[in-house]
Amino acid sequence: MRYLFFLLISALFWHLTNSNVTTDNTKLNQDSTTLKQAAPFPLGVSVDARLLTSNKQYRNTVNREFNSITSENALKMNRLLVAPNQYDWSGGDSIVDFARTTGKRMHGHTLVWHRSVPKWVEAFQGDSIAWENLLKSHIQTVIGHYKGQVKSWDVANEVIDDNGSLRKSIWSAHLGPDYVARCYQYAHEADPKALLFYNDYGQEINLKKALAIKAMLLNLRKRKIPIHGVGLQSHISIYHSDSQYRRGLAVMTSVGLLVHISELDIRLNTKKIKTLTITENMLEEQEQKYESIVEIYKDVVPKKQRYGITIWNLSDKDSYQLKDCQCPDAPMPFDTTYKKKLAYKGLLDGLRQ
Ligand code: G3I
Repeated sequence: MRYLFFLLISALFWHLTNSNVTTDNTKLNQDSTTLKQAAPFPLGVSVDARLLTSNKQYRNTVNREFNSITSENALKMNRLLVAPNQYDWSGGDSIVDFARTTGKRMHGHTLVWHRSVPKWVEAFQGDSIAWENLLKSHIQTVIGHYKGQVKSWDVANEVIDDNGSLRKSIWSAHLGPDYVARCYQYAHEADPKALLFYNDYGQEINLKKALAIKAMLLNLRKRKIPIHGVGLQSHISIYHSDSQYRRGLAVMTSVGLLVHISELDIRLNTKKIKTLTITENMLEEQEQKYESIVEIYKDVVPKKQRYGITIWNLSDKDSYQLKDCQCPDAPMPFDTTYKKKLAYKGLLDGLRQ
């Protein structure tokens, strides 16, 4: 009898908690307020060119919810500069056209990144002048092609190593340590109205790296190198400490430039467990984390420095994290069928307050 009573109570409890979750998500998907309506600053998403042209649900969700677009891969050097002096503009043009026709801000990502060097450039032979010309010509050709259409660019991406020193890369090897400053000058020459950003990861964990980035940016400012903003990628997890995030964001904000949370996603499966079961509890923690990141941004970054928050692709089906970890995860605010998740509610609540 006691056992039956226990079963009954458990079943009732299960019904109440699970039906609440369902009701919550159903209500959420009926709510017509969009992220971009609720946001007091631009709210962005990075997009994949192929999905944007081939998947209507993807395109409609991007259009409905966001007012800023970043190219996830299409404007990287390995996608554009396919052979010497030969550019493939197809992916980039389709994203930039979409942003223009839907009236969204376009942020270009990224001109100089050690991980997006085409194979033929890796094999390139030439003296330092030839290397300088190659990079200068790339920066100016791409910015020139999109002049007046791309409002801002991640010029250099991840040039500071995790130990705080200048990262050793093909560019630093051939162009010397001050190449970063010259990249910003070349970019500025090509489009003096474009806003130029420095983008990196890990500032929210690694204080040494955050301070090294700050020192580099202050040095560029002191020398009147044209640089206007800094991006914190923010590929984090539900276990990430709010106070660490606040500290990293405060260090970046103290440089005095525009501040962009540029690649936000929040993982559940940090240990990459192949058999992990995603629980309601984890999804609720994710909701909380999305909300607190927005709140910290509003709290730490003064209004005039807010360039906005951009999430890194759209749904749990499209996120690069799934391909990277080859394990179950669900880092985005939309599920694999583009339905809003609790994470979406976290974002919305953070933006609304
Ligand atoms: O499009 C090809 C496809 O044709 C091919 O069949 C397939 C085979 O694997 O690869 C596809 O390209 C992949 C592409 O993602 C699209 O899925 C590339 O191999 C893969 O390298 C590429 O990864 C991207 C990665 O940067 C490297 O460029 C991720 O999508 C992208 O999210 C990631 O973004 C970076 C930011 O630029 C900088 N910050 C970190 C962030 C995550 O690594």
